[in-house]
This record gives sequence, C-alpha cells and structure tokens, in this order.
Amino acid sequence: MSIVYMASDHAGIQLKAFLVKHLGDKGHEVHDLGPDSEISCDYPDSARTLTDALLQREAAFGILICGTGIGMSMAANRVHGIRAALATCEFHARACRAHNNANVLCLGARVTGQGLAADLADIFLSTPFEGGRHLRRVQKFD
Ligand code: RB5
Repeated sequence: MSIVYMASDHAGIQLKAFLVKHLGDKGHEVHDLGPDSEISCDYPDSARTLTDALLQREAAFGILICGTGIGMSMAANRVHGIRAALATCEFHARACRAHNNANVLCLGARVTGQGLAADLADIFLSTPFEGGRHLRRVQKFD
C-alpha cells in the first residue's frame, strides 16, 4: 500500500473526492490536501501545497487533478525532485512509473471519467520503476 497525497483545483474537486474514497477503500494512506469547496482557486497553489508535502516524505506519491491535468503537470514539474506525468490512458499510467519513475500523477477531470481515473490511479500506484537504462535517463533530468 502507498502513501498518497492528493490535491486539486475547483475543476478537479469532484474527481478528487471520488479517488480519495476509492484509494482509501483499497487501503492506501490517503492525505487530501484540499480544496474542500468548489470556489474557484489557482491550480499552481494546489500543486505547490502537494509538492511541498510530498517532498517531506520518503516513498510517497501525489495525485493532482485540474480540468485538463496540463496546468497541474506544468506547475508541479517546476519543483526540483518532482516528476509529474499527465495520464489519459492506461499505457501512460504504466509507462510513467516503469520508465520515468513519476512520483506525481496528473489527471484532467474534464477529460477523464471516474472509472478510467480509478484504473489509472491503481496502475500508477502498483507499477514499479524498472531502473536500469531508465534510471540513467531520469538522472539526466537534474
Ligand atoms: C480551470 O478552469 C482550468 O483552467 C484548470 O482546471 C486547468 O485545466 C488548467 O490547466
């Protein structure tokens, strides 16, 4: 089971609530960093709240949700140590862990429905990093 930090903006709050329950029911240690209302807010602030929390923990993952997933991935990837991947299909969710050692999954609530989002989160959290040549490449990020 994984430690999972979750945050969204107003566009992602309903999908976040769904995934908090889904992942909690599966036994993951889920931390919902908000927001808890649909009042309009700025996704870079939510991304920063999550990346600050994530970098305090060993071997934890993050899930960020906005309307498209694009803004969250752009914002999160500005933070050193964060490898955030926008996933819209199962292959993305698997490959971003296996090849890129992603530590943050970004989802678009206006793109991805609840059922697929649950599958993407499950795949993301259960796929190990393959290391080897992929480690060499990921190390070149820094
Ligand atoms: C909010 O309207 C929307 O711009 C935001 O959720 C996100 O999609 C940005 O990338």
